[in-house]
Amino acid sequence: MGNSLDKEQRKVDVADIVHDLTYSDAELKFINRTFVDEMNKGWELGKGLGATNDQSSLKMITSHINILPRGDESGVFFAVDLGGTNLRVLRVTLAEGTPTVREFREAIPSSVISSGASAEDLFDFIATACSNLTTDIPTDWAPIPLGFTFSFAVTQTSIKSGRLLEWTKGFATQGCIGEDPADLLQQALTRMSLPLVVDALCNDTVGTLMANAYQKKSKDCRIGVILGTGTNAAYSDPLLDDLIINIEWGGFDKFQRRTEFDIACDEASHNPGRQVLEKMVSGLYLGELARLATVRALSSKGAMVPSSLLEESSVETADISNLLAGDEKKVAKSALADLDSETLEIMKHISEAVLDRSAAVSAAVLAGVVEKATEGQKNKRCEVGIDGSLFTKGHQYKERLMRHLRKFYPTEEIVLDFSEDGSGMGAALVAAAISRGRQVSNQ
Ligand code: GLC
Repeated sequence: MGNSLDKEQRKVDVADIVHDLTYSDAELKFINRTFVDEMNKGWELGKGLGATNDQSSLKMITSHINILPRGDESGVFFAVDLGGTNLRVLRVTLAEGTPTVREFREAIPSSVISSGASAEDLFDFIATACSNLTTDIPTDWAPIPLGFTFSFAVTQTSIKSGRLLEWTKGFATQGCIGEDPADLLQQALTRMSLPLVVDALCNDTVGTLMANAYQKKSKDCRIGVILGTGTNAAYSDPLLDDLIINIEWGGFDKFQRRTEFDIACDEASHNPGRQVLEKMVSGLYLGELARLATVRALSSKGAMVPSSLLEESSVETADISNLLAGDEKKVAKSALADLDSETLEIMKHISEAVLDRSAAVSAAVLAGVVEKATEGQKNKRCEVGIDGSLFTKGHQYKERLMRHLRKFYPTEEIVLDFSEDGSGMGAALVAAAISRGRQVSNQ
């Protein structure tokens, strides 16, 4: 990687950059072994409350949940899903069979997540969104249970309360770290006199696991993964009475090497030095990595760098995916519109490497999670519920993930399910299970 003087002098061509952005099988194996090690340390030393960084780069937080939906849940429930680019509110009616869902979705304005915003700004925004789905609720109804999918690192003190450890994914609202997000939401709902009571708090990965288990009605659904704006996974641990643990895998940082683009992207972020894996894998960063690497390739050969590539974060992950898919119409409407064919060709090679590395790293760590989720079990069959825009829209992402996963599990049956709307539905299912008085874990 060298210092900046080296960088200026060292001429690199596209092949060098692609090579740098590609992890060998040995490097992936190292990631996989170290990841399992970090999982063990994170759980043992952090005791489920969220390991500190000197204990492990994986927080391993207990969700307090060790039940899966049974399929007989019924009633009306709300779910709020906060943690990506959109806020979603769901009103879910569960009756035996298919759930009916009404949804309100809104892009989250930067005014409520920037460092100038207060907790009240953010949570009033959420409560206002909820009010869109409560207008026809009769006033004599008992408050409706709400499951809150809050997709950040929260140490959970119970199934319905916790404390935000740190913001990720560019969120920076003041007055939230150290606070209970469920309580902040309840206060905002109460301020607006909405008939909703926050009954469950869960991470999106836990929600995805629950929703997939509900849909597939299978006990083999032991893992939930998000590959979207951010990335993370939760799994049910057979050695801990099936307790579901939120790994916070985006924090993994035991890499043998990173490229200069990873380092630049990290340094420019809201949380330098944190979420190292997330910044190599997730949708918020892949476009930027491809942009940085393309700029490097162009400037190294003395070519002019087009102005559209000079602006930080001008390229989105969707753009590089469209480029790889050969979707000219979408490319023509993006930041890549004005690039000449030679530049596009360079960017295509680089984007392929960036996207494939994302899937390779995800596979290496997912293989570690599969190992833990089936530990001591005879049945190694495993169904992984996955949600998130990178998984659904990243060019051939599922195929890539499976191809790399086969390096670790060549023959075992591992199923990658798209758990549609998993993160929101899952919270409603947790709220439903609790309202039926089903026991949850005290771990
Ligand atoms: C970030 C959050 C994590 C969440 C993931 C996916 O990594 O810290 O809690 O699950 O994004 O949304």
